[in-house]
Amino acid sequence: MVIHVFPQSTRHLSISKEDKLGEAQTLLQGMQLTKGEGGSPAQGDQTVRRNITFDKAILPLTSPTDDLASLPDLTEDILLKEMHKRYKRQQIYTYIGEILVAINPFKELQIYSIPASMLYKNVVARNSLPPHIYGTADAIYHSLVMEKLPQCCVISGESGAGKTESAKYMVNQFLRLADCEEGGLNLKIEQANPLLEAFGNAQTTMNNNSSRFAKYLELIFSREGRVLGAGISHYLLEKSRVVYQNPGERNFHIFYLMFAGLSPDEYNLYGLQGPQYHRYLNRSGFDLRTMMTQTAKDKMDKFRQSLQTVGFNKDDEDNLLTCLSAVLHIGDIQFITSANNDVAQIINMEVLNKVSEMIQVPSEELDSALTSEITVTRGEAIRRQRDVYHAGDCRDALAKALYARLFGWVVNGINHLLQPLEDSPEDTLEVGVLDIFGFEDFSRNSFEQLCINLANEQLQNFFNKHVFQQEQEAYQTEGVTMELVRFVDNKPTVDLFLQVRNLLVHHIKVGL
Ligand SMILES: Nc1ncnc2c1ncn2[C@@H]1O[C@H](COP(=O)(O)OP(=O)(O)O)[C@@H](O)[C@H]1O
Ligand SMILES: [Mg+2]
Repeated sequence: MVIHVFPQSTRHLSISKEDKLGEAQTLLQGMQLTKGEGGSPAQGDQTVRRNITFDKAILPLTSPTDDLASLPDLTEDILLKEMHKRYKRQQIYTYIGEILVAINPFKELQIYSIPASMLYKNVVARNSLPPHIYGTADAIYHSLVMEKLPQCCVISGESGAGKTESAKYMVNQFLRLADCEEGGLNLKIEQANPLLEAFGNAQTTMNNNSSRFAKYLELIFSREGRVLGAGISHYLLEKSRVVYQNPGERNFHIFYLMFAGLSPDEYNLYGLQGPQYHRYLNRSGFDLRTMMTQTAKDKMDKFRQSLQTVGFNKDDEDNLLTCLSAVLHIGDIQFITSANNDVAQIINMEVLNKVSEMIQVPSEELDSALTSEITVTRGEAIRRQRDVYHAGDCRDALAKALYARLFGWVVNGINHLLQPLEDSPEDTLEVGVLDIFGFEDFSRNSFEQLCINLANEQLQNFFNKHVFQQEQEAYQTEGVTMELVRFVDNKPTVDLFLQVRNLLVHHIKVGL
Protein backbone atom coordinates (compact mmCIF):
# COMPACT_ATOMS: atom_id res chain seq x y z
CA MET A 1 0.00 0.00 0.00
CA VAL A 2 1.31 3.45 -0.78
CA ILE A 3 0.61 6.80 0.78
CA HIS A 4 1.16 9.82 -1.45
CA VAL A 5 1.16 13.35 -0.20
CA PHE A 6 0.21 16.27 -2.40
CA PRO A 7 -0.26 19.94 -1.64
CA GLN A 8 -3.85 20.64 -2.59
CA SER A 9 -3.03 23.81 -4.49
CA THR A 10 -2.06 23.74 -8.15
CA ARG A 11 1.22 25.46 -7.30
CA HIS A 12 4.00 23.82 -9.23
CA LEU A 13 6.81 22.90 -6.88
CA SER A 14 10.22 23.49 -8.33
CA ILE A 15 11.96 20.20 -7.90
CA SER A 16 15.56 20.59 -8.91
CA LYS A 17 17.94 19.08 -6.36
CA GLU A 18 19.13 22.49 -5.17
CA ASP A 19 15.59 23.74 -4.68
CA LYS A 20 14.62 20.63 -2.77
CA LEU A 21 17.32 21.35 -0.27
CA GLY A 22 16.24 24.96 0.05
CA GLU A 23 12.69 23.89 0.56
CA ALA A 24 13.70 21.43 3.24
CA GLN A 25 15.65 24.13 5.06
CA THR A 26 12.67 26.47 5.08
CA LEU A 27 10.60 23.67 6.48
CA LEU A 28 13.07 23.04 9.27
CA GLN A 29 13.33 26.60 10.49
CA GLY A 30 12.05 27.06 14.01
CA MET A 31 11.53 23.38 14.69
CA GLN A 32 13.26 21.20 17.23
CA LEU A 33 14.38 17.64 16.97
CA THR A 34 12.67 15.61 19.63
CA LYS A 35 15.06 12.85 20.52
CA GLY A 36 14.71 10.25 23.25
CA GLU A 37 17.34 8.89 25.58
CA GLY A 38 18.23 6.21 23.08
CA GLY A 39 19.96 8.93 21.08
CA SER A 40 20.44 8.88 17.39
CA PRO A 41 20.34 5.30 16.19
CA ALA A 42 23.20 3.72 14.33
CA GLN A 43 23.39 4.54 10.66
CA GLY A 44 24.61 2.11 8.06
CA ASP A 45 23.73 -1.06 9.94
CA GLN A 46 22.26 -3.30 7.30
CA THR A 47 21.78 -6.36 9.47
CA VAL A 48 19.56 -4.77 12.06
CA ARG A 49 17.69 -7.40 14.06
CA ARG A 50 16.85 -5.56 17.24
CA ASN A 51 14.40 -2.83 18.01
CA ILE A 52 15.39 0.33 19.77
CA THR A 53 13.62 2.03 22.65
CA PHE A 54 13.36 5.81 22.45
CA ASP A 55 11.77 7.11 25.64
CA LYS A 56 9.68 3.92 25.90
CA ALA A 57 8.75 4.10 22.23
CA ILE A 58 9.67 0.78 20.67
CA LEU A 59 10.70 1.26 17.06
CA PRO A 60 12.97 -0.51 14.59
CA LEU A 61 16.43 0.98 14.08
CA THR A 62 17.05 3.29 11.18
CA SER A 63 18.82 1.66 8.25
CA PRO A 64 20.28 2.67 4.86
CA THR A 65 17.24 1.22 3.09
CA ASP A 66 14.80 3.50 4.94
CA ASP A 67 14.48 5.58 1.78
CA LEU A 68 14.75 3.37 -1.28
CA ALA A 69 15.00 6.42 -3.53
CA SER A 70 18.58 6.78 -2.28
CA LEU A 71 19.69 3.38 -3.60
CA PRO A 72 22.08 3.55 -6.57
CA ASP A 73 20.06 1.05 -8.66
CA LEU A 74 16.31 1.21 -8.72
CA THR A 75 14.54 -1.66 -10.41
CA GLU A 76 11.25 -3.23 -9.46
CA ASP A 77 13.09 -6.36 -8.43
CA ILE A 78 15.47 -4.49 -6.10
CA LEU A 79 12.64 -2.48 -4.56
CA LEU A 80 10.62 -5.62 -3.84
CA LYS A 81 13.60 -7.53 -2.45
CA GLU A 82 14.55 -4.68 -0.12
CA MET A 83 11.02 -4.26 1.11
CA HIS A 84 10.73 -7.98 1.70
CA LYS A 85 13.94 -7.93 3.78
CA ARG A 86 12.60 -4.98 5.76
CA TYR A 87 9.25 -6.68 6.30
CA LYS A 88 10.97 -9.75 7.74
CA ARG A 89 12.65 -7.40 10.25
CA GLN A 90 9.21 -5.97 11.09
CA GLN A 91 10.06 -2.72 9.32
CA ILE A 92 6.69 -2.36 7.67
CA TYR A 93 7.23 1.25 6.56
CA THR A 94 9.63 2.38 3.83
CA TYR A 95 10.04 5.77 2.20
CA ILE A 96 10.49 6.04 -1.56
CA GLY A 97 11.20 9.73 -1.82
CA GLU A 98 8.05 11.58 -0.77
CA ILE A 99 5.99 8.41 -0.75
CA LEU A 100 5.50 6.12 2.20
CA VAL A 101 5.02 2.43 1.44
CA ALA A 102 3.35 0.35 4.15
CA ILE A 103 3.06 -3.44 4.21
CA ASN A 104 0.28 -4.90 6.32
CA PRO A 105 1.85 -6.77 9.29
CA PHE A 106 -1.44 -8.54 10.10
CA LYS A 107 -0.45 -8.48 13.76
CA GLU A 108 -0.29 -5.85 16.44
CA LEU A 109 3.02 -4.01 16.51
CA GLN A 110 4.19 -1.84 19.37
CA ILE A 111 5.09 1.06 17.10
CA TYR A 112 1.90 3.08 17.55
CA SER A 113 2.22 3.93 21.24
CA ILE A 114 1.83 7.48 22.56
CA PRO A 115 5.63 7.76 23.22
CA ALA A 116 6.22 6.76 19.57
CA SER A 117 3.69 9.32 18.44
CA MET A 118 5.41 12.03 20.51
CA LEU A 119 8.78 11.11 19.06
CA TYR A 120 7.50 11.99 15.61
CA LYS A 121 6.38 15.45 16.68
CA ASN A 122 8.38 18.28 15.08
CA VAL A 123 10.92 15.97 13.46
CA VAL A 124 13.79 18.01 12.00
CA ALA A 125 15.72 15.41 10.03
CA ARG A 126 13.55 12.68 8.55
CA ASN A 127 16.39 10.15 8.47
CA SER A 128 16.97 10.47 12.23
CA LEU A 129 14.00 8.19 12.83
CA PRO A 130 12.80 5.04 11.09
CA PRO A 131 10.07 5.51 8.45
CA HIS A 132 6.65 5.72 10.05
CA ILE A 133 3.19 6.90 9.17
CA TYR A 134 3.53 9.30 12.10
CA GLY A 135 6.58 10.78 10.35
CA THR A 136 4.58 11.35 7.17
CA ALA A 137 1.76 12.92 9.22
CA ASP A 138 4.30 15.23 10.88
CA ALA A 139 5.74 16.31 7.51
CA ILE A 140 2.23 17.04 6.18
CA TYR A 141 1.27 18.99 9.29
CA HIS A 142 4.37 21.12 9.07
CA SER A 143 3.86 21.84 5.38
CA LEU A 144 0.40 23.02 6.34
CA VAL A 145 1.52 25.25 9.18
CA MET A 146 4.73 26.60 7.62
CA GLU A 147 3.68 26.96 3.98
CA LYS A 148 0.02 27.71 4.77
CA LEU A 149 -1.00 25.39 1.97
CA PRO A 150 -3.83 22.88 2.23
CA GLN A 151 -2.58 19.30 2.02
CA CYS A 152 -3.92 16.05 0.64
CA CYS A 153 -2.86 12.53 1.45
CA VAL A 154 -3.90 9.71 -0.87
CA ILE A 155 -3.82 6.15 0.43
CA SER A 156 -4.00 3.51 -2.25
CA GLY A 157 -3.44 -0.22 -2.46
CA GLU A 158 -5.34 -3.41 -3.00
CA SER A 159 -8.13 -4.55 -0.76
CA GLY A 160 -6.91 -5.65 2.69
CA ALA A 161 -3.59 -3.81 2.32
CA GLY A 162 -4.31 -1.74 5.45
CA LYS A 163 -5.53 1.57 3.96
CA THR A 164 -8.33 2.23 6.41
CA GLU A 165 -6.17 1.37 9.42
CA SER A 166 -3.47 3.69 8.05
CA ALA A 167 -5.99 6.48 7.59
CA LYS A 168 -7.01 6.11 11.24
CA TYR A 169 -3.39 6.27 12.47
CA MET A 170 -2.77 9.27 10.24
CA VAL A 171 -5.80 11.21 11.47
CA ASN A 172 -5.06 10.41 15.12
CA GLN A 173 -1.52 11.67 14.67
CA PHE A 174 -2.71 14.93 13.06
CA LEU A 175 -4.95 15.51 16.05
CA ARG A 176 -2.10 14.87 18.48
CA LEU A 177 0.23 17.15 16.51
CA ALA A 178 -2.37 19.88 16.71
CA ASP A 179 -2.62 19.30 20.48
CA CYS A 180 -6.27 18.45 20.15
CA GLU A 181 -7.42 17.64 23.67
CA GLU A 182 -8.27 13.99 24.37
CA GLY A 183 -12.04 13.58 24.24
CA GLY A 184 -12.37 16.32 21.62
CA LEU A 185 -12.60 15.78 17.89
CA ASN A 186 -10.71 12.48 18.03
CA LEU A 187 -13.35 11.03 20.35
CA LYS A 188 -16.12 12.20 18.02
CA ILE A 189 -14.39 10.62 15.00
CA GLU A 190 -13.95 7.43 17.01
CA GLN A 191 -17.62 7.44 17.93
CA ALA A 192 -18.66 7.93 14.33
CA ASN A 193 -16.56 5.00 13.09
CA PRO A 194 -18.91 2.17 14.23
CA LEU A 195 -21.71 3.83 12.21
CA LEU A 196 -19.62 4.26 9.09
CA GLU A 197 -18.26 0.73 9.31
CA ALA A 198 -21.62 -0.89 10.02
CA PHE A 199 -23.16 0.77 6.96
CA GLY A 200 -20.21 0.96 4.61
CA ASN A 201 -18.13 -2.14 5.40
CA ALA A 202 -18.62 -5.82 4.67
CA GLN A 203 -16.79 -9.13 4.85
CA THR A 204 -15.09 -9.99 1.56
CA THR A 205 -12.70 -12.76 0.56
CA MET A 206 -9.81 -10.28 1.03
CA ASN A 207 -10.79 -8.55 4.26
CA ASN A 208 -13.29 -9.30 7.05
CA ASN A 209 -13.97 -5.61 7.46
CA SER A 210 -13.56 -4.21 3.96
CA SER A 211 -14.70 -0.64 3.30
CA ARG A 212 -17.06 -0.68 0.35
CA PHE A 213 -16.99 3.07 -0.25
CA ALA A 214 -14.33 5.72 -0.63
CA LYS A 215 -13.95 8.12 2.26
CA TYR A 216 -12.43 11.56 2.10
CA LEU A 217 -11.94 12.94 5.59
CA GLU A 218 -11.06 16.59 5.72
CA LEU A 219 -9.61 18.02 8.91
CA ILE A 220 -10.08 21.75 9.21
CA PHE A 221 -7.31 23.77 10.87
CA SER A 222 -6.81 27.40 11.78
CA ARG A 223 -3.82 29.04 10.08
CA GLU A 224 -1.86 28.51 13.29
CA GLY A 225 -2.47 24.75 13.09
CA ARG A 226 -5.25 24.47 15.69
CA VAL A 227 -7.82 21.84 14.71
CA LEU A 228 -11.33 23.26 14.34
CA GLY A 229 -13.47 20.47 12.95
CA ALA A 230 -13.81 17.87 10.26
CA GLY A 231 -16.06 16.73 7.43
CA ILE A 232 -16.53 13.42 5.65
CA SER A 233 -17.38 12.98 1.97
CA HIS A 234 -18.25 9.57 0.65
CA TYR A 235 -18.06 8.24 -2.89
CA LEU A 236 -18.89 5.12 -4.86
CA LEU A 237 -20.77 3.16 -2.20
CA GLU A 238 -20.94 -0.37 -3.57
CA LYS A 239 -24.73 -0.47 -3.66
CA SER A 240 -24.86 -3.67 -5.69
CA ARG A 241 -23.72 -5.54 -2.56
CA VAL A 242 -27.14 -4.89 -1.01
CA VAL A 243 -28.81 -7.11 -3.57
CA TYR A 244 -26.03 -9.49 -4.63
CA GLN A 245 -22.81 -10.83 -3.11
CA ASN A 246 -20.12 -12.90 -4.81
CA PRO A 247 -19.55 -16.39 -3.33
CA GLY A 248 -17.80 -16.20 0.05
CA GLU A 249 -18.79 -12.56 0.53
CA ARG A 250 -21.41 -10.93 2.69
CA ASN A 251 -23.85 -8.06 2.63
CA PHE A 252 -23.09 -4.88 4.63
CA HIS A 253 -22.40 -5.56 8.35
CA ILE A 254 -25.47 -3.66 9.58
CA PHE A 255 -27.93 -6.31 8.39
CA TYR A 256 -26.31 -9.09 10.42
CA LEU A 257 -25.85 -6.85 13.47
CA MET A 258 -29.51 -5.97 13.31
CA PHE A 259 -30.62 -9.61 13.48
CA ALA A 260 -28.17 -10.33 16.30
CA GLY A 261 -29.11 -7.29 18.37
CA LEU A 262 -32.83 -6.61 17.94
CA SER A 263 -35.23 -7.60 20.72
CA PRO A 264 -38.13 -10.04 20.03
CA ASP A 265 -40.51 -7.04 20.12
CA GLU A 266 -38.45 -5.27 17.48
CA TYR A 267 -38.44 -8.40 15.30
CA ASN A 268 -42.25 -8.20 15.42
CA LEU A 269 -42.36 -4.47 14.86
CA TYR A 270 -40.24 -4.65 11.70
CA GLY A 271 -41.84 -7.88 10.43
CA LEU A 272 -38.57 -9.81 10.59
CA GLN A 273 -38.10 -13.50 11.30
CA GLY A 274 -34.47 -14.42 10.77
CA PRO A 275 -31.74 -13.59 8.27
CA GLN A 276 -32.19 -16.92 6.49
CA TYR A 277 -35.70 -15.86 5.37
CA HIS A 278 -34.50 -12.87 3.32
CA ARG A 279 -33.29 -13.26 -0.25
CA TYR A 280 -30.70 -10.46 -0.03
CA LEU A 281 -28.98 -12.31 2.83
CA ASN A 282 -29.49 -16.01 2.23
CA ARG A 283 -27.83 -16.48 -1.16
CA SER A 284 -24.20 -16.13 -0.07
CA GLY A 285 -23.93 -19.73 1.17
CA PHE A 286 -23.21 -18.84 4.83
CA ASP A 287 -24.98 -20.52 7.71
CA LEU A 288 -26.58 -17.31 8.88
CA ARG A 289 -27.60 -18.66 12.28
CA THR A 290 -23.94 -18.93 13.28
CA MET A 291 -23.65 -15.17 12.87
CA MET A 292 -26.07 -14.46 15.70
CA THR A 293 -23.21 -14.29 18.18
CA GLN A 294 -22.78 -12.34 21.40
CA THR A 295 -20.02 -10.32 19.66
CA ALA A 296 -22.47 -9.27 16.94
CA LYS A 297 -25.04 -8.38 19.59
CA ASP A 298 -22.46 -6.27 21.45
CA LYS A 299 -21.58 -4.52 18.20
CA MET A 300 -25.24 -3.70 17.62
CA ASP A 301 -25.44 -2.24 21.14
CA LYS A 302 -22.36 -0.15 20.34
CA PHE A 303 -23.95 0.92 17.06
CA ARG A 304 -27.03 2.14 18.92
CA GLN A 305 -24.86 4.00 21.44
CA SER A 306 -22.94 5.64 18.58
CA LEU A 307 -26.22 6.74 17.01
CA GLN A 308 -27.11 8.52 20.23
CA THR A 309 -23.68 10.07 20.69
CA VAL A 310 -23.65 11.36 17.14
CA GLY A 311 -26.99 13.03 17.84
CA PHE A 312 -29.65 10.76 16.35
CA ASN A 313 -32.70 10.42 18.61
CA LYS A 314 -34.92 7.40 19.27
CA ASP A 315 -37.27 8.30 16.38
CA ASP A 316 -34.31 8.51 14.02
CA GLU A 317 -33.16 5.08 15.18
CA ASP A 318 -36.63 3.68 14.62
CA ASN A 319 -36.80 5.22 11.12
CA LEU A 320 -33.40 3.84 10.29
CA LEU A 321 -34.29 0.29 11.38
CA THR A 322 -37.61 0.57 9.52
CA CYS A 323 -35.84 1.53 6.30
CA LEU A 324 -33.25 -1.24 6.68
CA SER A 325 -36.04 -3.78 7.23
CA ALA A 326 -37.89 -2.32 4.22
CA VAL A 327 -34.79 -2.92 2.09
CA LEU A 328 -34.85 -6.61 3.08
CA HIS A 329 -38.60 -6.93 2.47
CA ILE A 330 -38.25 -5.25 -0.94
CA GLY A 331 -35.82 -8.02 -1.87
CA ASP A 332 -38.48 -10.60 -1.03
CA ILE A 333 -41.06 -9.23 -3.48
CA GLN A 334 -41.50 -11.88 -6.18
CA PHE A 335 -42.91 -11.71 -9.69
CA ILE A 336 -44.41 -14.25 -12.11
CA THR A 337 -45.37 -13.84 -15.73
CA SER A 338 -49.14 -13.26 -15.86
CA ALA A 339 -51.18 -15.95 -17.58
CA ASN A 340 -52.71 -13.89 -20.40
CA ASN A 341 -49.72 -11.75 -21.44
CA ASP A 342 -45.96 -11.64 -20.89
CA VAL A 343 -45.94 -9.01 -18.16
CA ALA A 344 -44.80 -9.18 -14.55
CA GLN A 345 -47.23 -9.64 -11.72
CA ILE A 346 -46.43 -9.62 -7.99
CA ILE A 347 -47.22 -12.95 -6.34
CA ASN A 348 -46.71 -12.11 -2.66
CA MET A 349 -48.86 -9.03 -2.12
CA GLU A 350 -48.51 -9.33 1.68
CA VAL A 351 -44.79 -8.46 1.33
CA LEU A 352 -45.59 -5.53 -0.97
CA ASN A 353 -48.13 -4.27 1.58
CA LYS A 354 -45.55 -4.53 4.36
CA VAL A 355 -43.05 -2.50 2.32
CA SER A 356 -45.65 0.08 1.34
CA GLU A 357 -46.52 0.61 5.00
CA MET A 358 -42.86 0.94 5.97
CA ILE A 359 -41.87 3.43 3.30
CA GLN A 360 -45.30 5.11 3.41
CA VAL A 361 -46.13 4.76 -0.26
CA PRO A 362 -49.63 3.48 -1.20
CA SER A 363 -49.35 -0.18 -2.26
CA GLU A 364 -51.07 0.38 -5.65
CA GLU A 365 -48.51 3.07 -6.51
CA LEU A 366 -45.62 0.88 -5.40
CA ASP A 367 -46.99 -2.05 -7.39
CA SER A 368 -47.37 0.02 -10.53
CA ALA A 369 -43.93 1.64 -10.10
CA LEU A 370 -42.34 -1.81 -9.95
CA THR A 371 -44.27 -3.51 -12.73
CA SER A 372 -44.67 -0.69 -15.26
CA GLU A 373 -42.91 2.37 -16.60
CA ILE A 374 -44.13 5.57 -18.20
CA THR A 375 -42.50 6.99 -21.30
CA VAL A 376 -43.47 10.38 -22.68
CA THR A 377 -43.56 10.64 -26.48
CA ARG A 378 -44.59 13.92 -28.13
CA GLY A 379 -46.15 15.10 -24.90
CA GLU A 380 -48.19 11.94 -24.49
CA ALA A 381 -47.54 9.65 -21.51
CA ILE A 382 -47.61 5.95 -22.35
CA ARG A 383 -47.58 3.29 -19.65
CA ARG A 384 -45.79 0.06 -20.57
CA GLN A 385 -45.87 -3.11 -18.44
CA ARG A 386 -42.48 -4.63 -17.55
CA ASP A 387 -41.57 -8.27 -17.94
CA VAL A 388 -40.42 -10.32 -14.92
CA TYR A 389 -36.72 -9.68 -15.57
CA HIS A 390 -37.07 -5.89 -15.72
CA ALA A 391 -39.50 -5.74 -12.79
CA GLY A 392 -36.87 -7.63 -10.74
CA ASP A 393 -34.24 -5.14 -11.82
CA CYS A 394 -36.46 -2.27 -10.80
CA ARG A 395 -37.13 -3.87 -7.38
CA ASP A 396 -33.37 -4.21 -6.79
CA ALA A 397 -32.74 -0.64 -7.95
CA LEU A 398 -35.27 0.58 -5.36
CA ALA A 399 -33.53 -1.38 -2.58
CA LYS A 400 -30.12 -0.05 -3.61
CA ALA A 401 -31.33 3.55 -3.81
CA LEU A 402 -33.03 3.35 -0.43
CA TYR A 403 -29.89 1.95 1.19
CA ALA A 404 -27.64 4.57 -0.44
CA ARG A 405 -29.92 7.40 0.78
CA LEU A 406 -29.85 5.94 4.26
CA PHE A 407 -26.05 5.85 4.19
CA GLY A 408 -25.94 9.48 3.01
CA TRP A 409 -28.30 10.47 5.82
CA VAL A 410 -26.07 8.80 8.43
CA VAL A 411 -22.95 10.54 7.02
CA ASN A 412 -24.79 13.90 7.13
CA GLY A 413 -25.57 13.30 10.79
CA ILE A 414 -21.91 12.53 11.47
CA ASN A 415 -20.82 15.69 9.63
CA HIS A 416 -23.16 17.72 11.77
CA LEU A 417 -21.35 16.42 14.86
CA LEU A 418 -17.87 17.02 13.43
CA GLN A 419 -18.45 20.47 11.90
CA PRO A 420 -16.41 23.42 13.23
CA LEU A 421 -17.97 25.63 15.86
CA GLU A 422 -19.72 28.71 14.53
CA ASP A 423 -17.15 31.16 15.85
CA SER A 424 -14.34 29.55 13.82
CA PRO A 425 -12.16 31.89 11.75
CA GLU A 426 -13.05 32.29 8.09
CA ASP A 427 -9.66 31.54 6.53
CA THR A 428 -8.97 27.94 7.38
CA LEU A 429 -6.61 25.31 6.01
CA GLU A 430 -7.55 21.72 5.29
CA VAL A 431 -5.77 18.40 5.35
CA GLY A 432 -7.62 15.73 3.39
CA VAL A 433 -7.08 12.00 3.80
CA LEU A 434 -8.43 9.91 0.95
CA ASP A 435 -9.06 6.27 1.77
CA ILE A 436 -10.28 4.84 -1.50
CA PHE A 437 -11.17 1.20 -1.71
CA GLY A 438 -8.95 -0.97 -3.74
CA PHE A 439 -8.64 -2.26 -7.25
CA GLU A 440 -10.20 -5.70 -7.57
CA ASP A 441 -10.83 -8.19 -10.34
CA PHE A 442 -13.50 -10.79 -9.60
CA SER A 443 -14.96 -13.45 -11.85
CA ARG A 444 -18.06 -11.24 -11.93
CA ASN A 445 -17.37 -7.51 -11.52
CA SER A 446 -20.15 -5.07 -10.69
CA PHE A 447 -20.55 -1.72 -12.41
CA GLU A 448 -19.40 -0.10 -9.15
CA GLN A 449 -16.22 -2.18 -9.23
CA LEU A 450 -15.56 -0.89 -12.74
CA CYS A 451 -15.93 2.69 -11.44
CA ILE A 452 -13.63 1.94 -8.50
CA ASN A 453 -11.02 0.35 -10.73
CA LEU A 454 -11.22 3.38 -13.01
CA ALA A 455 -10.79 5.71 -10.02
CA ASN A 456 -7.71 3.70 -8.99
CA GLU A 457 -6.31 3.88 -12.52
CA GLN A 458 -6.84 7.65 -12.50
CA LEU A 459 -5.00 7.95 -9.21
CA GLN A 460 -2.17 5.87 -10.64
CA ASN A 461 -2.10 8.15 -13.67
CA PHE A 462 -2.00 11.26 -11.49
CA PHE A 463 0.79 9.68 -9.47
CA ASN A 464 2.80 8.77 -12.62
CA LYS A 465 2.42 12.31 -13.87
CA HIS A 466 3.41 13.85 -10.57
CA VAL A 467 6.29 11.56 -9.72
CA PHE A 468 7.83 10.71 -13.09
CA GLN A 469 6.72 13.00 -15.87
CA GLN A 470 6.78 16.38 -14.13
CA GLU A 471 10.01 15.57 -12.32
CA GLN A 472 11.73 14.48 -15.52
CA GLU A 473 10.47 17.55 -17.38
CA ALA A 474 11.82 19.82 -14.65
CA TYR A 475 15.21 18.09 -14.78
CA GLN A 476 15.29 18.53 -18.54
CA THR A 477 14.22 22.18 -18.37
CA GLU A 478 17.01 22.90 -15.91
CA GLY A 479 19.56 20.94 -17.94
CA VAL A 480 20.27 18.40 -15.20
CA THR A 481 21.51 15.15 -16.73
CA MET A 482 19.52 12.14 -15.71
CA GLU A 483 18.58 8.69 -16.89
CA LEU A 484 14.97 8.56 -18.04
CA VAL A 485 12.86 6.34 -15.81
CA ARG A 486 10.69 3.89 -17.71
CA PHE A 487 7.22 3.39 -16.29
CA VAL A 488 4.02 1.80 -17.52
CA ASP A 489 1.83 4.68 -18.64
CA ASN A 490 -1.82 3.81 -18.13
CA LYS A 491 -3.07 7.01 -19.81
CA PRO A 492 -4.46 5.19 -22.88
CA THR A 493 -6.61 2.99 -20.61
CA VAL A 494 -7.87 5.93 -18.58
CA ASP A 495 -8.61 7.90 -21.77
CA LEU A 496 -10.46 4.98 -23.24
CA PHE A 497 -12.93 5.15 -20.39
CA LEU A 498 -13.10 8.89 -19.82
CA GLN A 499 -13.09 10.28 -23.35
CA VAL A 500 -15.68 7.94 -24.74
CA ARG A 501 -17.57 7.62 -21.49
CA ASN A 502 -21.03 7.80 -23.01
CA LEU A 503 -20.25 5.17 -25.56
CA LEU A 504 -18.86 2.80 -22.97
CA VAL A 505 -21.69 3.29 -20.54
CA HIS A 506 -24.04 2.52 -23.41
CA HIS A 507 -22.14 -0.71 -24.12
CA ILE A 508 -22.19 -1.66 -20.46
CA LYS A 509 -25.97 -1.15 -20.31
CA VAL A 510 -26.45 -3.32 -23.35
CA GLY A 511 -24.05 -5.92 -21.92
CA LEU A 512 -25.97 -6.10 -18.64
N1 LIG B 1 -0.76 -1.26 10.73
C1 LIG B 1 -1.41 -2.38 11.01
N2 LIG B 1 -1.09 -3.12 12.10
C2 LIG B 1 -1.74 -4.28 12.38
N3 LIG B 1 -2.74 -4.80 11.62
C3 LIG B 1 -3.12 -4.11 10.53
C4 LIG B 1 -2.49 -2.86 10.15
N4 LIG B 1 -3.08 -2.43 9.02
C5 LIG B 1 -4.03 -3.33 8.73
N5 LIG B 1 -4.07 -4.33 9.62
C6 LIG B 1 -4.97 -5.53 9.61
O1 LIG B 1 -5.42 -5.74 8.29
C7 LIG B 1 -6.85 -5.69 8.22
C8 LIG B 1 -7.27 -5.02 6.93
O2 LIG B 1 -6.90 -3.66 6.97
P1 LIG B 1 -7.78 -2.50 6.31
O3 LIG B 1 -7.20 -1.20 6.72
O4 LIG B 1 -9.23 -2.73 6.62
O5 LIG B 1 -7.52 -2.80 4.75
P2 LIG B 1 -8.01 -1.96 3.48
O6 LIG B 1 -8.71 -0.73 3.96
O7 LIG B 1 -6.79 -1.68 2.68
O8 LIG B 1 -8.92 -2.89 2.74
C9 LIG B 1 -7.28 -4.95 9.48
O9 LIG B 1 -8.56 -5.35 9.90
C10 LIG B 1 -6.20 -5.33 10.47
O10 LIG B 1 -6.51 -6.58 11.05
MG1 LIG C 1 -10.64 -0.05 3.75
